[in-house]
Amino acid sequence: MTDTDHSARFSLAGRTALVTGAGRGLGWEIARAMAQAGAHVLLNGRDLGVLSAKVDLLVSAGLSAAAAQFDVADRDVCDDWIVACDGTIDILVNNVGMRHRKPIPDTPPEKFTEMLDVNLTAAYGVARAVAPGMAARGAGAIVNVTSIAGPFARAGDIAYTAAKGGLEALTRALAVELGRDGVRCNGIAPGYFATETNQAMVESPAVNAFLQSRVPLRRWGQPPEIAGAAVFLASPAASYINGQILTVDGGMTASF
Ligand SMILES: NC(=O)c1ccc[n+]([C@@H]2O[C@H](COP(=O)([O-])OP(=O)(O)OC[C@H]3O[C@@H](n4cnc5c(N)ncnc54)[C@H](OP(=O)(O)O)[C@@H]3O)[C@@H](O)[C@H]2O)c1
Repeated sequence: MTDTDHSARFSLAGRTALVTGAGRGLGWEIARAMAQAGAHVLLNGRDLGVLSAKVDLLVSAGLSAAAAQFDVADRDVCDDWIVACDGTIDILVNNVGMRHRKPIPDTPPEKFTEMLDVNLTAAYGVARAVAPGMAARGAGAIVNVTSIAGPFARAGDIAYTAAKGGLEALTRALAVELGRDGVRCNGIAPGYFATETNQAMVESPAVNAFLQSRVPLRRWGQPPEIAGAAVFLASPAASYINGQILTVDGGMTASF
């Protein structure tokens, strides 16, 4: 790599990226950032109206994007959709996540299973579907959006914690198995982000006091602050990074 153009190595030009759960929140910011980095971005979600509005925003800004409406937990639909892409997906961001902030008595086994299905098994299913196309080209990048709830636990969040811990382990397992084909897999572990879904907590004085005392930066993460990590891990700039989790939490888990 002599005379390397380092700025070009942060570009996603010429790549096609599938971002799951891209209609709002962190997924939308990741999709927008990847489009701005030059990728053709496929925005996934279940609501075509929401996705089309976001695609229009990107396309009217001169960027390249299309809607990818399917439920990631519906294995057959997901597989059919990815087969129809004919091996063209270079980057997968497994961002879809579902929360059930309840203690053990309020988490029956059926709910636990549903949480694993959406947060973990679906990510495996999408990765499994895109992997052959990536392997055939000898290149690809998968980024799983995990959580600080992967390595650390809080009471009353049993199913999400188990699922995100599994997603971290899945990230390493995919990295090890697919790395032989030139496909990298890494994770991003967000801390507390002020997404629409978290709006009630954003407005809670108790949660804000907790974050002020526990996060060294003393504030919520803003959704655009997740995007740099995703673009970086998907880009050639991260070409020798494989099987790692990049924590984006304002330093929360670095302090005690
Ligand atoms: N926000 C945080 O503070 C935080 C912290 C740690 C980790 N995370 C993780 O970061 C990721 C994004 O979080 P977020 O707060 O941005 O989530 P969000 O606001 O709840 O957005 C989730 C997105 O996923 C889509 N979605 C949900 N189920 C789906 C399914 N089965 N198939 C396809 N799309 C589906 C939703 O759209 P439709 O309902 O229209 O399909 C929505 O666009 C999640 O994995 C979450 O666990 C977030």
